[in-house]
Amino acid sequence: MSTAPELFSAAPEMLIRQMRPLDVADVVAIEHASYQFPWSEGIFRDCLRVGYLCRVVTVGQVLMGYGVMSTGAGEAHILNLCVGENFRCRGIGRHLMFALIERAAAAGVNEAFLEVRPSNTAAIRLYQSMGFVQLGMRRGYYQAAVGREDAAVLRLRIGAGTRVPGAAPATQP
Ligand SMILES: CC(C)(COP(=O)(O)OP(=O)(O)OC[C@H]1O[C@@H](n2cnc3c(N)ncnc32)[C@H](O)[C@@H]1OP(=O)(O)O)[C@@H](O)C(=O)NCCC(=O)NCCS
Repeated sequence: MSTAPELFSAAPEMLIRQMRPLDVADVVAIEHASYQFPWSEGIFRDCLRVGYLCRVVTVGQVLMGYGVMSTGAGEAHILNLCVGENFRCRGIGRHLMFALIERAAAAGVNEAFLEVRPSNTAAIRLYQSMGFVQLGMRRGYYQAAVGREDAAVLRLRIGAGTRVPGAAPATQP
């Protein structure tokens, strides 16, 4: 699997920036292609409206992935992290997650939490490689094709000075 710095030195025009209302159609297209039970367009618009941190990765006009995070009471919750199928395994998910964590650290957040399906090996490997540890399980948290699926709850302790190691893509506030 290629490393993130290689990717971004190979594509210096890649940008992580705030999601805009005009991005939502592209975001929803990736969301629907990526999840069996996707968020609706309305959920993304609500996330923008209430001021959650919503970031996208783009090269030119092409939107490759996005992340959504809420913060409050000293905690961050990663609510969504997704990379378009054609752009996976190139370090984009890792950079997006670092970008979210950096923003959380800058906001004085101490811990980040997320839920993930235990069957989602790619995401779990990404999160664990970034220092997330499993705290427990939420029983029957997710919709499933048959019945419900549990969620693994992961936590990352965030220190002051948390930053993206190595070369990072350009980011905008
Ligand atoms: C999970 C996801 C965001 C990862 O994005 P990505 O850009 O492909 O990930 P990266 O290229 O940054 O990979 C980072 C690490 O994740 C792990 N990983 C990523 N894809 C993997 C795969 N197919 N199999 C195993 N591990 C994988 C590896 O540990 C990898 O590190 P490495 O490159 O040093 O081996 C992406 O697969 C995705 O969007 N999946 C669908 C949506 C989803 O499930 N989101 C998570 C919901 S909790």
